[in-house]
Amino acid sequence: MSNKLKAAIIGLGWAGCEHLKGYVENPQSEVFAVCDMDEDRARQIAKENNIPHVFTDHQKMLEQSEIDVISIGLPNFLHAPVTIDALNAGKHVLCEKPPARNSEEAIAMAEAAEKNDKTLMYALVLRFSADAQALRKMVDDGELGQIYFGRAGYVRRRGIPIGAGAWFVDKSRSGGGGLIDIGVHALDRCWWLMGSPKPISVLGATFSHFKHLVPKDVKYDVDDSAFAQIRFENGATLMLEATWALNLPGGGYTQIAGTLAGGKIDPLTIYKDDQDIIPEVEDVNGYRAEVDHFIDCVISGETPIASAEQGITLMKMLDAIYKSSDKMGEIRIN
Ligand SMILES: NC(=O)c1ccc[n+]([C@@H]2O[C@H](COP(=O)([O-])OP(=O)(O)OC[C@H]3O[C@@H](n4cnc5c(N)ncnc54)[C@H](O)[C@@H]3O)[C@@H](O)[C@H]2O)c1
Repeated sequence: MSNKLKAAIIGLGWAGCEHLKGYVENPQSEVFAVCDMDEDRARQIAKENNIPHVFTDHQKMLEQSEIDVISIGLPNFLHAPVTIDALNAGKHVLCEKPPARNSEEAIAMAEAAEKNDKTLMYALVLRFSADAQALRKMVDDGELGQIYFGRAGYVRRRGIPIGAGAWFVDKSRSGGGGLIDIGVHALDRCWWLMGSPKPISVLGATFSHFKHLVPKDVKYDVDDSAFAQIRFENGATLMLEATWALNLPGGGYTQIAGTLAGGKIDPLTIYKDDQDIIPEVEDVNGYRAEVDHFIDCVISGETPIASAEQGITLMKMLDAIYKSSDKMGEIRIN
């Protein structure tokens, strides 16, 4: 019998299928089962990839003792309950972003990982690009000095996702709109590049002006743009903008500034005095690198770089942006 880790994927939308490819390509893992409530889709994907077991009920799948690791590619409202079920069933979990709908759910997920002594990692894929990894290494090596400013944007001029059953635009199922969906990527990567400082306060504003872009019968009660400033215990600050729809040009950026140099990614560029330096980095597929890191951590027992604890802090920052917008004032984070 193979001694590879046996993986199973729950939720076979675009994200779940990227995880699947990662386990297929990693020499230390193989895909044992897939699960989706859409049985035809699950059977089709299993057939295409020679996967022996298909489920439509995640609880039934979790009863399979052969499964070591679970990937969760489900809508956001299912991240916490299904992750907790999987951890309680003795599986290690790689859960898609955002970690959950809010920090309370992320705390419960971290507690389940701790209680069961299992790895819980979040699929914060933008950390795994080659340029992000290289820039974070320069920060760790002190090449940029003390990082005191970051700015990140994930701006779509038009690009509101709906998802299976229109869950993306229903706050009760998604936890929020553009901020929690794509703002989470921009915020997470910039915060991580800054060395993951402890957030202490947030000023944010969110808006919902583009309901007319989704079909009339779809419930739409989420933000389609969000803007925030986060302050950290070490004195640093981060500016964020995240939009699914905005009457301005779209685009993305992640930039950090330190006392010795600054840096941005995509492409990686270092700004030192009046020089722009473009270091060479080998291109990697972030989705594969993310699964590889998860598998390595499960085997070694090391804590992943996108850990359960970091998921809590990330969700606290997002919660605070929503709260700050409601209150029209600054929110402190403990
Ligand atoms: N990292 C990335 O780049 C990225 C990209 C897209 C989505 N995501 C994340 O992945 C998650 C899924 O997003 P998506 O776009 O694939 O969504 P989706 O709606 O396209 O797919 C979700 C899948 O889950 C299945 N599903 C729903 N409820 C289920 C249940 N109870 N049991 C089994 N299967 C069930 C649906 O049938 C569907 O196939 C979200 O959290 C999203 O934020 C991440």
